[in-house]
Amino acid sequence: MHISAGAKVCGVMAYPVEHSLSPLMHNFFAQELGIDFAYVPLKVRPEDVESAVRGAWAVNLAGMNVTVPHKQAVIPFVRELDPGAKAIGAVNTLVRAEGGYKGYNTDAPGLLRAMKDEGMDIEGQDWLIIGAGGAAKAAAFVLGSGHAGSVIVLNRSRDRAAALAREFNEHFGRDFIRAMSLEEYKALPHGKRQAVQTTSVGMYPRNDAAPVEDADFYKGITKAIDVIYTPARTKFSAMVEAAGGQAAGGLSMLLYQGAAAFELWNPEVTVPKEVIEKAGQLMRKALKGQGEDK
Ligand code: ATR
Repeated sequence: MHISAGAKVCGVMAYPVEHSLSPLMHNFFAQELGIDFAYVPLKVRPEDVESAVRGAWAVNLAGMNVTVPHKQAVIPFVRELDPGAKAIGAVNTLVRAEGGYKGYNTDAPGLLRAMKDEGMDIEGQDWLIIGAGGAAKAAAFVLGSGHAGSVIVLNRSRDRAAALAREFNEHFGRDFIRAMSLEEYKALPHGKRQAVQTTSVGMYPRNDAAPVEDADFYKGITKAIDVIYTPARTKFSAMVEAAGGQAAGGLSMLLYQGAAAFELWNPEVTVPKEVIEKAGQLMRKALKGQGEDK
């Protein structure tokens, strides 16, 4: 790939950054679309977040992705916040604007697009979010924006689930989310619901774990997305399928949040679906190479 001296340069700030698939994905998008663009890993220690954002500005970076553990820490250093990022309380994309960076959260539109691919409906439907961290907040924002009928947030720490419910019920001006503790899963109201699994339980190398180990729990889930993409098929997904439901992993969400960021930095293009799919194949191969997709 030819990168000229006039190339638009972006990167991903993370700590650690060595396992990030984002450089592979974005440079592939640029190559396929014939854009003069380069995307580099940026290893930023937690104590250096402010100087990293200012330094990125000084060296004329067009934007950055922001990931673990910096998604909240960058907020004080952005010039402007997109309303979605503000509601979620996390930024995963910075876009160069007048006088500073504007912070966005493309995890939410990425999740929404992945849900649509799975044929999941939001409006008026009953949902379950497992977990109450950053990814759960993106899910709550997507479900609230799409006018979900009801959402139960099931989390190990009930207090954290209750805080999430309070925050988003207030944001959307209706009491559609309620909190439950993971250990009370047997007290879930009867009926079937769609689910988003956002905890780190079952992530490589702990592939043999699921947030709930009881097979009966999974009979209440019709369709699910697990945001984990290593392994490609988690124990959670396998248990949903064993109970007769449909389950998808987190690679689509990762690809779609990336495509959404790429389009924010390069507003003249739309990343075609077939390019996103080809990037997915490349990333699956890279994960196998890292030994993480087992
Ligand atoms: P992210 O931003 O990726 O969502 P996070 O903010 O660290 O990550 O949240 C991790 C989520 O996984 C939380 O819901 C956490 O539960 P707690 O709020 O109770 O900590 C959940 N989680 C992590 N390890 C867990 C475990 N062993 N069992 C159950 N839930 C777990």
